[in-house]
Amino acid sequence: MSITVTAATGNLGRLVVHALLDRGAEPGGIVAAVRDPRKAADLAALGVEVREADYARPETLVRAFEGAERLLLISSSAAGARIEQHLNVVEAAAGVRQLVYTSAAYADTVPIAMNAEHAATEEAIRASGIPFTILRNNWYLENTTGNLGRALENGVILGASGEGRLSAASRADYAEAAAVVLTSEYCTGTTYELAGDHPFTMAELAAEVTRQSGREVVYRNLPQTEYAGLLAKFGVPEVFAAMLAERDVAISRDEFLVESGDLSRLIGRPTTTVADAVSAALQ
Ligand SMILES: NC(=O)c1ccc[n+]([C@@H]2O[C@H](COP(=O)([O-])OP(=O)(O)OC[C@H]3O[C@@H](n4cnc5c(N)ncnc54)[C@H](OP(=O)(O)O)[C@@H]3O)[C@@H](O)[C@H]2O)c1
Repeated sequence: MSITVTAATGNLGRLVVHALLDRGAEPGGIVAAVRDPRKAADLAALGVEVREADYARPETLVRAFEGAERLLLISSSAAGARIEQHLNVVEAAAGVRQLVYTSAAYADTVPIAMNAEHAATEEAIRASGIPFTILRNNWYLENTTGNLGRALENGVILGASGEGRLSAASRADYAEAAAVVLTSEYCTGTTYELAGDHPFTMAELAAEVTRQSGREVVYRNLPQTEYAGLLAKFGVPEVFAAMLAERDVAISRDEFLVESGDLSRLIGRPTTTVADAVSAALQ
C-alpha cells in the first residue's frame, strides 16, 4: 500500500509519518511529499521516500503523487492562498483510492474567515468524485501553550474567548487519527469532527499553569479589536491577527466546543489533557 503525506516537513506532517510507522506501515510504502526536500533529511533517514510537492507548482504534484493509493493533504500554512493551492492538489490527486484532508472544526457551519478556505476545499473534494475522508481538526492544544514563557513573565494570558470552552487536542492526537484513517479500510465518505475530550476555558488554562509552575497567572479577556491589535503588535500579520481574534470570539460563544467523541474513538484512547499539554510546555 502506498501512502503519500503532503507538507510532511511541517509539525503535523512529521508526526503523521511517525504515527504511520508506529502503526506498522512499511517505510518504503510512505512518500513524504514536501515543498523543500532539503528539509526532509530526517524523514529520508527513516527509509521514507521524499519527493518534491509544492502546492503552488502543479507539475511537482503530479510527479509526487505517481503511484499514490492514499493521499493525506495537510492544509497549507499559506492563509489567503490556500484555496488555489489545495485545488491544485485535488486536481493532481485524481486516481487515488482515498484523499484525506485536514480541515477545520465546523468548517461549513461556523462562518468565520479562518474556516472559509477549508469549506471551499471540502466542497472541491466532494465534487471531485475521489473517495475522501475529511478530518476536521479542532484547535491544537499547542496553540494555547506555545507562549507560556511570556505568560509566566507577565502573569497574564490574554485573549478574547471569554468564558467559552474549547475542545483542543494535541497535534500528536490528530496525527494519530490521520494515521488510523490512512491505514484502515472503513472510513471513506466520512467527515470527522476531531477534538479534545476535555474542553477548558482560558481561565482554567491559566489556573493549570499557576498550579504547575507555582507562579500566579490569570486570564484577562480583551475586546476583539484590542486583542487583534495586540497580536499585530507582537508581529502577527494584521489579516491573520484579525482572523485569530474573530476565532477567539467564536470560542467565547462555545462555537468550538465539539462533543463528537470522534477523535478518542478513532485513536482508541482519551485525548491529551490540558494538564499534560501545560506540563510538556513547561519542560
Ligand atoms: N488546528 C489548528 O489549531 C491549526 C493551527 C495552525 C495551523 N493549522 C493548519 O494545519 C496545518 C498543519 O499544521 P502544522 O502545525 O503542521 O503547521 P506548520 O508546521 O506550519 O506546517 C505547515 C506546512 O505547510 C507547508 N506548506 C506551506 N506552503 C506550502 C506549499 N506551497 N507547498 C507545499 N507545502 C506547503 C509547509 O512547508 P515547509 O515545511 O516547506 O514550510 C509546512 O510543512 C497548517 O498548515 C494549517 O493549515 C491548524
